Amino acid sequence: MTSVTLSSLRARKQAGDAFSCLTAYDASFAAAAGRAGIDVLLVGDSLGMVLQGHDSTLPVTIDDIVYHTRCVARGKGDSLLMVDLPFMGNPSREKLLENAAELMRAGAELVKVEGEGWMADDIRELTRRGVPICAHLGLTPQTVHQLGGYKVQGRESEAAQRIIDDAQLLVEAGASVILLECVPASLGKAVTEALDVPVIGIGAGPDTDGQILVMHDVLGVTHGRTPRFVKNFLEGADGITDAFHRYHEDVLARRFPAAEHCFQD
Ligand code: KIV
Ligand code: NA
Repeated sequence: MTSVTLSSLRARKQAGDAFSCLTAYDASFAAAAGRAGIDVLLVGDSLGMVLQGHDSTLPVTIDDIVYHTRCVARGKGDSLLMVDLPFMGNPSREKLLENAAELMRAGAELVKVEGEGWMADDIRELTRRGVPICAHLGLTPQTVHQLGGYKVQGRESEAAQRIIDDAQLLVEAGASVILLECVPASLGKAVTEALDVPVIGIGAGPDTDGQILVMHDVLGVTHGRTPRFVKNFLEGADGITDAFHRYHEDVLARRFPAAEHCFQD
């Protein structure tokens, strides 16, 4: 395998080929994911939940993310390394640029930010300065208290249109990738078709260019409620690397997600 880059992901989209993404938080699992062929690794602020045991991502700090990014960067093979900007990582333009720089110095190759259309100016500034951006839309866990819980977004046509408009606006501002979480499959398809840049989905239906899951969910290491869109790939697999490989293969063959993992209108 050669290194996965933003241009290779774009080429995959143009060819109609899917790609796989998985969260990673340390060197050993990052290496296993790389061996399994996973295309994109995400140091997600989901680490606040799966590593730290919080019930949301809000307590995660920039230092937490930097620490885990350094760990993953040392272990990763050819996967592209995406990293989350944590909650309130953009209290001001200056602080945002400093935080993004820290993530890039730690090894990030793509920085993921949660935020709607209002993030456009920030995204323009970051991309101008060499920080490639993935904009996370739909269910944005950093605003869980405003959303009133982890709920499917974009069900009404007005809300769906807002997500399409925001995605287009943020791509025009410079975003290289869009990530959609927990939206009806029809909206996942509409956004993917409307954009030239790769769209990654989680609970966004089978038609996005890429799929992402939290590593712990892929391995069935879950506690509390399990969202509809997850699947335990360790079941029936010959170990962890094989579970990652089965996930990768199922995503590329578009066998995952199946209808049971998707939200319909
Ligand atoms: O933090 C995370 O793991 C994420 C993915 C669920 C997309 O943002
Ligand atoms: Na996240």
